[in-house]
Amino acid sequence: MKPLAFVGAGRMASAMVEGLLRAKKTVPEAITVCGGPDPTARQLSERTGVRVAEPAVVAEDADFVVLACKPQQLPDLDPGLLTALNGKAVISILAGVPLRKLRAAAPRARLIVRAMPNTPGQIGAGVTAFATDPAPTDEDARVTTEILGALGEVIAVDETDLDAVTGVSGSGPAYVFEFTAALREAGIAQGLSPQVADRIARATVLGAARLMHAAPGVTPEEQRDRVTSPGGTTEAGLRVLAARDFRGALRETVAAATRRSRELGE
Ligand SMILES: NC(=O)c1ccc[n+]([C@@H]2O[C@H](COP(=O)([O-])OP(=O)(O)OC[C@H]3O[C@@H](n4cnc5c(N)ncnc54)[C@H](OP(=O)(O)O)[C@@H]3O)[C@@H](O)[C@H]2O)c1
Repeated sequence: MKPLAFVGAGRMASAMVEGLLRAKKTVPEAITVCGGPDPTARQLSERTGVRVAEPAVVAEDADFVVLACKPQQLPDLDPGLLTALNGKAVISILAGVPLRKLRAAAPRARLIVRAMPNTPGQIGAGVTAFATDPAPTDEDARVTTEILGALGEVIAVDETDLDAVTGVSGSGPAYVFEFTAALREAGIAQGLSPQVADRIARATVLGAARLMHAAPGVTPEEQRDRVTSPGGTTEAGLRVLAARDFRGALRETVAAATRRSRELGE
């Protein structure tokens, strides 16, 4: 992989750098990072051996530059850094910042990628959707997928889909955490101790997720039906979920998050 630069060295940048090095996609000497006023860049360098540079020069030798600061830090980026993006491929993971704003910041970059990762990316178990301006060459698409692959699964979409992606996978981990907490509370309501309820609720969500992961050809509905025998306990429980329109609630949840993502991008 050609030299890489990271603008920002926080949680997501660290996950990407560490993932790329762990998978031996590149070497520490080929990665340069910069941060803001706090010591995150130095700390990442001490952990991994990557180079640290001032923001104005961080992108100088790089072919791909990953923007991994906070969205609100975009207007404060060093003018020298923005000029250094000319001719390079820029991958932004800044939540909600549209391609047209990124293009305005780096008008002469050869490729701009707007990526939407999610929090499990911090442990390499995320899913990241991305859209580009313009359409990438095969080689740029390959490298983009390789870099974002450090966070987990990668999928190319149209930019217009990114708000809905935010509503499903961006905000989705929070729905799953809320579901897990609700399962724990429901267990406590049936007389379990908080410790037992917490442990079995977490283990159940993790186990079901791993079962889906182990059998990608099996739909969630098929997995559900395998646990549901006629007249049994699961059927009794699922009947309540259907009566309370569980799917309708999630549909509205995702619609609200998608709408909010659209509003924030405007
Ligand atoms: N966390 C997630 O799971 C997640 C999920 C989806 C999208 N994202 C997106 O990922 C991006 C990074 O999130 P994060 O959680 O990794 O944030 P973070 O841990 O707060 O890291 C932000 C980094 O940006 C650096 N920085 C601040 N000002 C800067 C400047 N002017 N120039 C260069 N670097 C600067 C900070 O450096 P110092 O602290 O050293 O000053 C820090 O290294 C955000 O845009 C967020 O929207 C995150």
